[in-house]
Amino acid sequence: MSKQVVLVTGASRGIGYALALELHRRGHHVVATARSESKLRQLAEECGDDRLEFEVLDLGDREAVQQWANRLKDKGYRISHMINNAGSLVNKPFADISPYELRRVYEVNVFSVFELIQKVMPLYSDDVHVVNISSMGGYQGSQKFPGLTAYSSSKAAVASLTECLQEELGERGWTFNALCLGAVQTEMLEEAFPGFAAPTTPGEMATFIADFAEGSQKFIRGKVLPISSTTP
Ligand SMILES: NC(=O)c1ccc[n+]([C@@H]2O[C@H](COP(=O)([O-])OP(=O)(O)OC[C@H]3O[C@@H](n4cnc5c(N)ncnc54)[C@H](OP(=O)(O)O)[C@@H]3O)[C@@H](O)[C@H]2O)c1
Repeated sequence: MSKQVVLVTGASRGIGYALALELHRRGHHVVATARSESKLRQLAEECGDDRLEFEVLDLGDREAVQQWANRLKDKGYRISHMINNAGSLVNKPFADISPYELRRVYEVNVFSVFELIQKVMPLYSDDVHVVNISSMGGYQGSQKFPGLTAYSSSKAAVASLTECLQEELGERGWTFNALCLGAVQTEMLEEAFPGFAAPTTPGEMATFIADFAEGSQKFIRGKVLPISSTTP
């Protein structure tokens, strides 16, 4: 018998941690990933039962991602919701961003989303909802900020990828949406905008994302949505 699970990447801190907790609280079986084992262990302890499962996974490691997808299959899991939340940011003047930094940002924010979806889509349930977490910086026509060329352009790529996936795979009944988040008070925000106080906590954003993931796929499909009360 297959078991329905929810995947959350980047669950070791910030929005992903709060989201994994929230989805677990709502009764889902959550499979949470990140690189930091100690923080994932803390998440599992906070959840307190086996409906929170974690996998230490570097999304840049192709082989590890494939092996993980195989293990999910072996367990008989079917994916009802997938939240591609993991993100990487570099805040530097355009001229100073090294090829390594540029690739790392695209690796996590774009390539891993592309490849992870390829690997796990055989496990999608008939009405899976895939939510890709983008950023206001990647939303076409939004205000842009110096230092964020690699990050914001990568978030625009994942937004466009979302629309393409809906077009190509949507007829199977699957739904892909991208949420372009505004400022949320996390460690990443502090890297992007040092000293800026965001009006939104990770817990508040997690509640919104969980509501959206659970309740919107009938009417919102293939959309790139700005989710911000302020700029940034
Ligand atoms: N906070 C904001 O204001 C804001 C605004 C717009 C969009 N967003 C987006 O929202 C998402 C969550 O942001 P956040 O602020 O919560 O960020 P965060 O606190 O920096 O958390 C990022 C998460 O991604 C994981 N991650 C990074 N590189 C990884 C890799 N190579 N392999 C696996 N996991 C990796 C990190 O875990 P490990 O380090 O343990 O691997 C961490 O759990 C991101 O996609 C971000 O771009 C955030």
